[in-house]
Amino acid sequence: MSDGHQRIYLDHAATTPPDPEVIEAMLPYLRDQWHNPSSIYVEAQRARAGIDDARATIARLIGARPDEVLFTSGGSEADNLALRGVLGASRRRGKHLVISAVEHHAILDTAEQLERDGAAEVSIVGVDREGRVDPAAVAALVRDDTVLVSIMHANNEVGAVNDVAEIARQVREQNAHTMVHTDAVQSAAHLGVHVDRLGVDLMTFTAHKMYGPRGAGALYVRSGTPLQGQILGGAQERSIRAGTEDSAAIAGFALAMTQTWERREADTTHERALAGRLIEELPKRIPLLAITGPRDPAQRLPGNVSCTVGFVEGESILLALDLAGIAASSGSACTTGSVEPSHVLVATGMPDDLARGSLRFTFGRGNTDADVDRLLEVLPPIVQRLRALSPVPVTEPPASWLPWLTSTVTS
Ligand SMILES: Cc1ncc(COP(=O)(O)O)c(C=O)c1O
Repeated sequence: MSDGHQRIYLDHAATTPPDPEVIEAMLPYLRDQWHNPSSIYVEAQRARAGIDDARATIARLIGARPDEVLFTSGGSEADNLALRGVLGASRRRGKHLVISAVEHHAILDTAEQLERDGAAEVSIVGVDREGRVDPAAVAALVRDDTVLVSIMHANNEVGAVNDVAEIARQVREQNAHTMVHTDAVQSAAHLGVHVDRLGVDLMTFTAHKMYGPRGAGALYVRSGTPLQGQILGGAQERSIRAGTEDSAAIAGFALAMTQTWERREADTTHERALAGRLIEELPKRIPLLAITGPRDPAQRLPGNVSCTVGFVEGESILLALDLAGIAASSGSACTTGSVEPSHVLVATGMPDDLARGSLRFTFGRGNTDADVDRLLEVLPPIVQRLRALSPVPVTEPPASWLPWLTSTVTS
């Protein structure tokens, strides 16, 4: 159904294709050094050495010490560990937690459960219309009993980049004992995260968003940060995260991260050029469209293009794009058959009915100008067709949409 065209992948924020060299680097750990790294014989010690090397490599890239890097299964687990671990270890000091309204659900849902269980009191800071968090607004929520502040470095839907260093600085000014965590899952590949420059105590990142495998992520934990183990039953990862390590995924993680650090400038320039062209062209070709997220490229992840299309559901567009050979995503969540607008767009203040048309295109190393051309060729007729079929008459846009719309064309 894709007219002989190659399929086009525009969903790199969901996951990235594993680099062929990364896959090669993992194979010895699956084929030969598959032994349990905790055992004492020589084969097991080789597997252990692989993990130690990977930890040292990753630590060096983010400016940390090896013993400050805890391997997890990915970003979700690292986010859960950060919140549960710090709150669990700090009960005597308090249970106040500050997060933002646009965090990934790994943070939002964990915070909600901790609060429901009486283990946390959660304050939520809002965002501006571009999805960014104001450092002063975070600091204003910090109290004497604030144990942890967790604010994401870059948002997965609209690509908004937060000034985490400034957030950390202002939080510390309010309370020198408050720990600062950042979810850097989306930013690590693009912005070159360094824990001292960011000024954080804890940081989440994951391999499969940087051309590495699924199944490996990490939580950076600054030495001296109180952290209670959450998966018990073994001495792995300093008894904080028990379980036999996935040496293959961890080795792949370290190589993927090394390559990403080496290629960052080229990758970023390439992705920013593709995304910039799409951001420029979409509003010229599709009426009643709003580009979401920061206008300033310096405050936006380089490969991110997020937008909403009035009078159409984002999900319907995605299905049509899939048939046309293009893989993309939206920010909305399908719950029991009805499509809920993305919590991120709702937090920016965008009206729900406009937010339902959200789309996200995220570029990566393998994309080309021809991919942008193809998207620009197929998307406008898809939108036009869906609007023609829409049970909601496509009329003048409601007044509440006007401040949001970017489109320069009106029909
Ligand atoms: C901002 C953010 N945090 C956390 C996660 C979860 O990471 P993982 O898929 O490695 O569990 C994601 C994944 O999309 C993300 O975008």
